[in-house]
Amino acid sequence: MLLGVTGGIAAYKSAELVRRLRDAGAQVRVVMTAGATKFVTPLTFQAVSGHRVYGPDIFISESDDGMDHIHLARWADAVVVAPASANFIARLSMGMADDLLASICLATTATVAAAPAMNKEMWSAAATMDNVAKLRARGVHIVGPDAGDQACGEQGLGRMREVNRLVEDIARLFGADGALAGKRVLITAGPTREPIDPVRFISNRSSGKMGVAMAIAAAAEGADVTVVSGPLRVTVPPYIANVAVETAEQMWQAVAERLGETDIFIAAAAVADFRADSVATDKVAKADLGGALKLVPTTDILAAVCKAKPRPFVIGFAAETRDIESRGKEKLDRKGADVMIANPVGQAGTGFDADDNQATMLWHGGRKEFPRARKDELAKQLMSVISERYHAAKNSA
Ligand code: PMT
Repeated sequence: MLLGVTGGIAAYKSAELVRRLRDAGAQVRVVMTAGATKFVTPLTFQAVSGHRVYGPDIFISESDDGMDHIHLARWADAVVVAPASANFIARLSMGMADDLLASICLATTATVAAAPAMNKEMWSAAATMDNVAKLRARGVHIVGPDAGDQACGEQGLGRMREVNRLVEDIARLFGADGALAGKRVLITAGPTREPIDPVRFISNRSSGKMGVAMAIAAAAEGADVTVVSGPLRVTVPPYIANVAVETAEQMWQAVAERLGETDIFIAAAAVADFRADSVATDKVAKADLGGALKLVPTTDILAAVCKAKPRPFVIGFAAETRDIESRGKEKLDRKGADVMIANPVGQAGTGFDADDNQATMLWHGGRKEFPRARKDELAKQLMSVISERYHAAKNSA
């Protein structure tokens, strides 16, 4: 995502916006206008984006051919200008190419969104209203502004949309024509914790990274996503609904309550297979622990969802240390899922609590290999095939 920052006091909020967009899985490059650099330094955006920041001068180019504006325009999947000042909106509406950001907006074929921020009188001025109407008519998405206290001491319409809401709007906007637009996706993520007594529990090494990456990838395809998660070591972006649970039973209840409104169910959680038969109210003494611990199986959530009527399109993950594909196939058949994603675990660097993963996707009559990649990248590839399989199943039903 290319983030354009223009001159306005709200520019300081855009540093937080970069962080939230990155949390949501976006790669962000920042281009600042001359006005923006009066409010926030490029170094701030360099630090939060992890990339060099581009300034206003179109004639200072990093690329050998001197055409940063074209390369950046082609690189971006989406261009968001936040804050968008009255001056920038006017330049954009006239098709000016008098600085790098305006030139990129003119040269890109990606979707462009602008989050205006200015004094309320500047916003409601006839010139600004005409400019905004022109931009809307050309397909530029105008997000906000919001009403409230303004930096100038006035009250009214002109505040830049709050960062969390802006991220939600951006996610919706850019997923609006995605392959899963309008579909509801329910995903389990992370481990469960099965208590033994007030201080001990049975759990596993799942961090939730894979499940949350799947959720972000589904939202990027336009889906309305809910994650039911055990204790996570990653953040769920604000535009994805998150139901936090602890035990397998709570996870099953949260899933069962939402099944009627789910089109696609993805079981990425590492649900504990067993729980203590009874949970001690007092801490069990070490000497008594071995004898006291009787285990009973938890509900197999994936298998239970597959038996529900009507049931969503169901995807499971199979975590295996050997015979990955044959064991994955056995789970696909035994649990009754539509797709099983078999992933190797127990190797350093991939699987549980790692940033990378690799997988073999299996379905009845087909398979596809996904080589090792970062979980966010892999999730995008997996979601794309899941979406194909889902639509193929719908069309043949
Ligand atoms: O969370 P990370 O650190 O990113 O790691 C990701 C992961 C390795 C946990 C993930 O990619 C993964 O493989 N998740 C499934 C782990 C697992 O429990 O696999 P399994 O083979 O034991 O179970 C098969 C399927 O049944 C899974 O979809 C699981 O969610 C589901 N299941 C299992 C038991 C149970 N009681 N209920 C279930 O729904």
